[in-house]
Amino acid sequence: MNRLSTCIAIVGLASLFGCNDVLDDPKVNIPPSGIDWDSGSPFYGGPGAYAPYTGSDPYVLEAQRRIPDGLTLQSQVVRRSCGPINGVCHNQKEYPDLHTPANFVDAIGAPCNIQSGNPEGVFDRCERVGDRVEIDGTPGRFEIGWVEFVPPEGDETPPPSPEMPGLHFHFAEPVPTSHHERWRTLRLIRTLVRADRTVEDLSYAEYTTTLYVFDGGKHLVAGVRPYQVNTVLSLLAVGIEQGDLNRNGVFGARPRGSVSYGPIPLIDPGNPETSYLVARMRGFMRRVEGGTEHLDEVPGTRMPLANQPFSVPEMIALFCFIEGLDPALDTVNLAAPIDYGHCSYALDTSKLDGLAVEGEPGDCSWERRVKRVLAANCGGCHDSSDDTAGGLALLGDGVYDRLLLAAVDDPLSRPLIAPGNPAGSYLFLKIGGLLSEGQSHEEYIEAHSLAGELMPDAPSGFRKLDDVAIADIHAWIQAGASDTASCTTP
Ligand code: HEC
Repeated sequence: MNRLSTCIAIVGLASLFGCNDVLDDPKVNIPPSGIDWDSGSPFYGGPGAYAPYTGSDPYVLEAQRRIPDGLTLQSQVVRRSCGPINGVCHNQKEYPDLHTPANFVDAIGAPCNIQSGNPEGVFDRCERVGDRVEIDGTPGRFEIGWVEFVPPEGDETPPPSPEMPGLHFHFAEPVPTSHHERWRTLRLIRTLVRADRTVEDLSYAEYTTTLYVFDGGKHLVAGVRPYQVNTVLSLLAVGIEQGDLNRNGVFGARPRGSVSYGPIPLIDPGNPETSYLVARMRGFMRRVEGGTEHLDEVPGTRMPLANQPFSVPEMIALFCFIEGLDPALDTVNLAAPIDYGHCSYALDTSKLDGLAVEGEPGDCSWERRVKRVLAANCGGCHDSSDDTAGGLALLGDGVYDRLLLAAVDDPLSRPLIAPGNPAGSYLFLKIGGLLSEGQSHEEYIEAHSLAGELMPDAPSGFRKLDDVAIADIHAWIQAGASDTASCTTP
């Protein structure tokens, strides 16, 4: 099915989500055309140009041996990151379920987390071009930043004010203030891109009402009388594309200077650096503007949340897979070998930066190691939200200070971390730090008077941290659990 017909059909069904190719910037906006979105089979296309890696980096050699192709990457690595086990992927709405090869292929060129439940969770570079508003009697079209509906109360017409009931539009550029308190027709316009890449504007909704203009024209309220509420609700149900969905003043789909900024895809064929999936693993996305490099922070917890973090060879496989995708090709062959021989990340693994998420084994300093081990292995459940697991946030601000407090559920009220005393540290006991060979979990929990389960409590049961990480945490506590001193595990 070609993409335009998909979109029009969806408009007919009063849902515009899915018309993802409403885009201005041809470089990043248009997904590789012709991927067979309807097909369940990932096995198309022929193998591309490919060369094995012949260098000596042990991580790359391991990646090449263990993860030779895209299918293995999907089934053994990606699937684990946000697998079919519901409840673990806290942020499932924000990025797609990648648990089948076909879903993984669909993520190539697909837009990122624009439908996340909370606007603040949207990364600027995931924002799309907003729909535009045309006002009767005014030339030009005004891009919508964000929209908010304040329902009317009673039949009284409220005095005009920026807080008044109505449908509130916030624009990138001001509309003429002469529309204030005038009866006008608004038309909502969306741009669609056909499969042959020709562009067409579609007016998908019309609304006639009294307008109120504030903030020099950047804020427009379309009056909503009680009898118009249903019309407005159905318009909102259709979904208005908002160019500044996270309301921070940055319109992510607009170029910054000469640099194309967004919207970035989940997986950008040929370019890991502008793939949202990669940015979510790093926690930032790199951007070069005016010759200076910026690291834009990506909201939300780092992937892969509660599940086992990617090892360095797994990262290399993912980066090389993405870099090896040819944006000009219509097809993706997951069974084809990953091109480690030409991959810039294999040739220079320092390019993976920010991804040594757990720090260096043998380091027992707080910032460089312990904090990172906790964030990477525990942060998926113990995030900084109000309903974080066990009331314990191991991500966000103030983690260190919290660890010195008493554990919430401990019947003996021990501190989570007792400086100098690993055996008296509830957190250390919870991670099985003193678990001896052959001892059952039940015996251990009983022997140390613990509440609940051993940590990390994965859906498949306790999956103990690796021995080096536990030894580093032990050494950190033993040495006084400082948040500033550097520390080397004996
Ligand atoms: C899959 C989700 C999950 C993961 C991953 C996880 N936890 Fe937990 N954690 C929980 C839940 C649920 C509780 C509350 C029930 C319990 O204690 O068993 C909890 C409780 C705790 C408590 C007790 C808090 C208190 O104040 O009483 C500690 C300490 C803890 N976890 C540490 C960790 C550490 C350290 C890690 C990583 C090594 C980790 N958890 C990983 C889900 C998780």
